[in-house]
Amino acid sequence: MNLEGKVAVITGSAVRIGRSMALALAEAGVDICIHYHCSHEAAKLTCEEVRARGRIATYVSADLSDPVTASADIFAAAMTQFGKVDILINSASVFENKGLSDSTEADWDSHLDINLKAPFFLCQRFTEQFQPGQTGHVVNIVDWRAQRAGKGHLAYRISKAGLVTLTECLALELAPVIQVNAIAPGAILPPPGEDLSYLDQRVQKVPLQRAGSTAEICRALLYLLQSDFVTGEVLTVAGGEQLTAGLE
Ligand SMILES: NC(=O)c1ccc[n+]([C@@H]2O[C@H](COP(=O)([O-])OP(=O)(O)OC[C@H]3O[C@@H](n4cnc5c(N)ncnc54)[C@H](OP(=O)(O)O)[C@@H]3O)[C@@H](O)[C@H]2O)c1
Repeated sequence: MNLEGKVAVITGSAVRIGRSMALALAEAGVDICIHYHCSHEAAKLTCEEVRARGRIATYVSADLSDPVTASADIFAAAMTQFGKVDILINSASVFENKGLSDSTEADWDSHLDINLKAPFFLCQRFTEQFQPGQTGHVVNIVDWRAQRAGKGHLAYRISKAGLVTLTECLALELAPVIQVNAIAPGAILPPPGEDLSYLDQRVQKVPLQRAGSTAEICRALLYLLQSDFVTGEVLTVAGGEQLTAGLE
């Protein structure tokens, strides 16, 4: 896909990896609808940073734990501003380290609603606004832990595993009009509330012996969006950490 003049909705793009993807796409000529939940000031700032790159930007807040309402609100805002959406990036996520004994029903609900059902309903809204002749991309941000067994983060892993399956199913359903792919990051940024020592620990098990960067996720994203013959794929960007599964 030639990205110049295309429009992207990116969930969770006020801060962190989502913000980096918004700026990378703006540099590639894409106009951006920035979705956020609580990071209002950061969303305004990211919006300004997109505009400073010569692109149009808007921002919309929506709580993805109410996936049907949130997906409708996000697409209403994007369509009002841009009149079309060519690219949907599902990046917003929750990430709780809970296992069999301490996971509550509320933990399951939040992970499944935000990490899996919201991407599904956003895809529904995305496809509804497609016009004849338009082509597009969905990129779901998953995690290499979605495809490997391991201890902890149980509801998170399963929600992301569901998102991998959704990626593959929708790649079949939406071909040849819309390509649907996923990126599976490894250790990129410490989770909110953790410091860099979190990554230092993770890096000890990473074969390439370092953490990744948001720039590396953006390169993977640009590759997928610019490739016309890749769909249903999960691109792992984890320095080989996925090969150490079970040793966690
Ligand atoms: N960080 C890593 O190293 C890493 C590793 C593997 C996979 N990933 C995946 O990569 C993606 C981005 O990672 P990240 O670390 O940058 O993400 P993050 O900071 O954990 O979350 C991204 C955004 O999700 C939004 N969000 C959370 N709850 C929400 C809700 N109820 N409604 C709407 N939005 C909500 C938040 O928006 P607000 O701030 O506006 O509230 C948050 O900024 C995620 O899908 C994550 O699972 C990241």
